[in-house]
Amino acid sequence: MDLLPKTRREFSSSSYWETFFKRRGNKAFEWYGEYSTFCGLLAKYIKLTDEILIPGCGNSEMGSQMFDIGYKNITSIDISSNVINQMTQKNIKSRPDLKFLEMDLFNTSFNDNEFNVILDKGTLDAVYSEDTEENRLKVDNMFKEIVRLLRLGGRYICISLAQQFIAEKIIKYFSNEGWLTRVCLAQKDEEDDSSSDKNEDDKKLFNMPIFMFVLTKFKKLPNSKPIFESSFFESKIERHDSVSDLLSAITDLQNYALVKQNLRQGKTLEDQLCVTLYNSSLSSPRYTIYVVDGRGNRKFAIFIVPQGRETEWMFSTYEGRKQLHKSCNYERLLIVLLNRFHEYPSLDLVKKELSSKVLQLAPPNVDKQSPFLTLGESVSVRSKQYEGRSELSGGFVVEDVQIDNKLFRRLIFYNRPEVVQSEVLLKKVVKRSKKKHQKPVESYEVDHAHMTCSYYPSVIAGLLFVQDFLNKLDEKFDVLILDVDNKDHTLPFSSPPTAFIEDQLIHSYAQIVSQDGVFILNLATRCQENRDMVITRLKKHFQRVYYTCVDEQINEIVYCLPTKLKLDTNNEDFIKFIKNNLEEFKKRLQTIDNQYKKPLEELKLINIKSA
Ligand SMILES: C[S@@+](CC[C@H](N)C(=O)[O-])C[C@H]1O[C@@H](n2cnc3c(N)ncnc32)[C@H](O)[C@@H]1O
Repeated sequence: MDLLPKTRREFSSSSYWETFFKRRGNKAFEWYGEYSTFCGLLAKYIKLTDEILIPGCGNSEMGSQMFDIGYKNITSIDISSNVINQMTQKNIKSRPDLKFLEMDLFNTSFNDNEFNVILDKGTLDAVYSEDTEENRLKVDNMFKEIVRLLRLGGRYICISLAQQFIAEKIIKYFSNEGWLTRVCLAQKDEEDDSSSDKNEDDKKLFNMPIFMFVLTKFKKLPNSKPIFESSFFESKIERHDSVSDLLSAITDLQNYALVKQNLRQGKTLEDQLCVTLYNSSLSSPRYTIYVVDGRGNRKFAIFIVPQGRETEWMFSTYEGRKQLHKSCNYERLLIVLLNRFHEYPSLDLVKKELSSKVLQLAPPNVDKQSPFLTLGESVSVRSKQYEGRSELSGGFVVEDVQIDNKLFRRLIFYNRPEVVQSEVLLKKVVKRSKKKHQKPVESYEVDHAHMTCSYYPSVIAGLLFVQDFLNKLDEKFDVLILDVDNKDHTLPFSSPPTAFIEDQLIHSYAQIVSQDGVFILNLATRCQENRDMVITRLKKHFQRVYYTCVDEQINEIVYCLPTKLKLDTNNEDFIKFIKNNLEEFKKRLQTIDNQYKKPLEELKLINIKSA
């Protein structure tokens, strides 16, 4: 069919519509779907007694169908005389009270406040088909006319594809007028279009989600805060802080539809793609799905990451996901993360919830029973222990997660949910009751013997630089450890923030560390130049600087000594010294607390180098 406008410009020309309806004849053409698709939602916003104007009615049957179910005050207008004649002829006998008038919406002959509802299906989209200066002026006129025609409390209901510029215009215009803005999802993009008999053009256009803007006329009050709402899931209504927030909620849905369309058409992704799926709780996505394409022996699989493991390198980083894709050996792998703030009772339930959604992201012609992969048998458990806000780092949560039968307690900052900020292992302790017949009480305690990061033992090893440190008392510190992460990701250092390694500050560290003490720094940067610059500064203030690199991480533990070590000959001697003293060191620490025993057994010193 050659009746859909070929270029967008044609949408807004009145001669186009004349030809369109002439060629189409009496057959109704419903933009964005029939009345039956929208009637449920429309019934919420339109009363049977309302005075309704349908601008740009075309030959849609929406007006006559509404009339038949009881809406008696409907006036339809269109700029095309052809279509108005057609519609009048069609309805004059069976629905004589249904009015059809040839009229330009920009300049109607109706009185002020004549209608309670203006119901627009596709007309704004047709008028504002391209974002040109000329069209913007036209739309301003159209909106001005709508403001004039509607009564207070009345509604402009506009069914639209909500292209970005259209959505922005309509939301900004009416919120500036003091009206309440709500955007509803009028029709989801089609779940599976294989059964549809639409042609390819239709499929592309109508596979996008269709929105219904509901703009309620309020009196413009000075200083009143505009209200922006969306209703995308069932009848749930969400408030938005700003126009841009509401716009991006719309764009997210549109992008998802586009992505699905591309993926279903068999396009291979050049890069990884991230899709989020919400349920009706809305505040945070229930699932985050990474789509990773590449070579593979089999077509398609879904990998479910158990809760708490999403922070692991394999799932939280681009490179890790690439690696996972390679080892799973599928052309397309979906990596699914289960997000905090949601409950996932079982793996089976997750699979059930996901099954239709993941198929939308599958390549064409895949088996509906595509394999679900995971680690272990379950989705694991995550439980929130505490939630708070820090002035510097924003919101955070302390949560317990079970991984491989071990229970960990973690601190996570919401602005970097993929990073575990701190972690301890919890161990079960069973305390016998003093009373005879009472059951023993089980509880959890922090297992101090567990060291989460591979660099912690190296930090502790720095204590060895301090000769006889347990017996010393001094105003100065024998050990100064600086292990501060950087919240500003634009800076080259992940640790510490640059302010901590200014020359002046390093000077102060040197001042407060005792003569045979040590300053231990966790230095992490991917930039060699910056790293060297810090080492140079440290060397300026300390007599000796050593460092050790930590396996697979960018962290370097740097040891800075105010004086030369007596044994300060070369690297080998130093390691020998550490090793020889380690036993003695362990013994001494054990006298303070038995719990230090284990970590020091794990202690491995790797590549200590002199800087
Ligand atoms: C996209 S069609 C929508 C038709 C119909 N509302 C539907 O749902 O199928 C746009 C309609 O707006 C009409 N139209 C375009 N400019 C108009 C104007 N300035 N005043 C009134 N109608 C106009 C066209 O003739 C056409 O019938």
